[in-house]
Amino acid sequence: MRILTTTLTAVAALTAVTCAQAQDVEVLHWWTSGGEAAALNVLKDDLSGQGIGWQDMPVAGGGGTQAMTVLRARVTSGNAPTAVQMLGFDITDWAKEGALADLNTLADQNKWGDVIPAALQKFATHDGKWVAAPVNVHSTNWVWANKAIMDELGISQPQTWDEFVAAMQKAKDAGYTALAHGGQAWQEATIFDAVAMAAGGPEFYQKAFVELDEDTLSSDTMKEVFDRMGTLRGFVDDNFSGRDWNLATAMVINGDAAFQLMGDWAKGEFLNAGKTPGEDFLCYRFPGTQQQVTFNSDQFAMFDQDGAVSDQQAALASAILSPGFQIAFNKVKGSVPARTDLDVAELDACGQQGYEEFKAAAASGNLFGSFAHGHANPAAVKNAMYDVITAHFNGEYDSATAVDELVTAVQINK
Ligand code: GAL
Repeated sequence: MRILTTTLTAVAALTAVTCAQAQDVEVLHWWTSGGEAAALNVLKDDLSGQGIGWQDMPVAGGGGTQAMTVLRARVTSGNAPTAVQMLGFDITDWAKEGALADLNTLADQNKWGDVIPAALQKFATHDGKWVAAPVNVHSTNWVWANKAIMDELGISQPQTWDEFVAAMQKAKDAGYTALAHGGQAWQEATIFDAVAMAAGGPEFYQKAFVELDEDTLSSDTMKEVFDRMGTLRGFVDDNFSGRDWNLATAMVINGDAAFQLMGDWAKGEFLNAGKTPGEDFLCYRFPGTQQQVTFNSDQFAMFDQDGAVSDQQAALASAILSPGFQIAFNKVKGSVPARTDLDVAELDACGQQGYEEFKAAAASGNLFGSFAHGHANPAAVKNAMYDVITAHFNGEYDSATAVDELVTAVQINK
């Protein structure tokens, strides 16, 4: 069914070929939730202030899997969009195909190399060429909590896995959904990201997800990670299957659920609903990952249509990296700026915490690209991991079988 929907979306995208005017940019993205759309409007408004029109090409589906399928179809049919939201290794893969415009002139003029951290440049550049403009830094290892429920039940910030399980049990016993979750593969992988980091620590994460080391992938620790996923499965409600991530966030916002495990794009939903961190909701690092940050960075790659970067593409890329835009956008999106030279006093408490933690983690060797969001491995490996993680979450495999399946999936796809 998922394949059918994706195919239909791709066909629709092909047939609804947009007639972008010369002065427009056509932007393919997956920012379709309330909070995401609000953030995207900041970019649209910035460009319209410069007289550049916006041809919207939204492809719903958190994490961008469907968007990448549509992109492939568009490029194959010779109709690449002007600019595309992309993550990590997807950028590298398209750059390797020679499909992306060279942004070096712009990058040199604006000294991007001095202000964009190395962890982001790793994906924004390829073979000495800037090929994408980073919009933000998200991180995936967060817990979002409903403050009223925490107060009512006397739950303080869980510091360990056991404390977190106890807190979820308390919420469940009180009649709440303990864990708001949307049963989609990328959401389960997002949770797995944090659970794996907490259970195994940074070295385990590096070996398993970056180096794809077989001993680590097949270790008892990996079995423990799957066991913990099974524990979490016991705290979701009966209707979790297929639910979009933002609807899961809404359960926490509305006081139906105590917690959600999600990247900080969830904060964009709270803010869009008029909620305030510290008053209505709380942001914690996933227990056991207080020192680590698993990040992903949304970047816009420009497709090389006529050999050179068009004026509109250049305007879009410079708008994205301008200091004012970086603050204005990330305030709404829930992420933090992609530049390290900004005063972030305007960000809320969670944003300021996230910005400091990103820099601290980078300095102490605790910053890791999120495997769930394409920053540890190319899509083939990522998607193969998704399949195993989601099959286990849905009860198709026990933990020991899931470990074996993970090893095989990686062997086949790496
Ligand atoms: C992530 C992306 C975020 C957010 C999220 C849910 O992959 O980096 O910006 O959009 O998906 O859609």
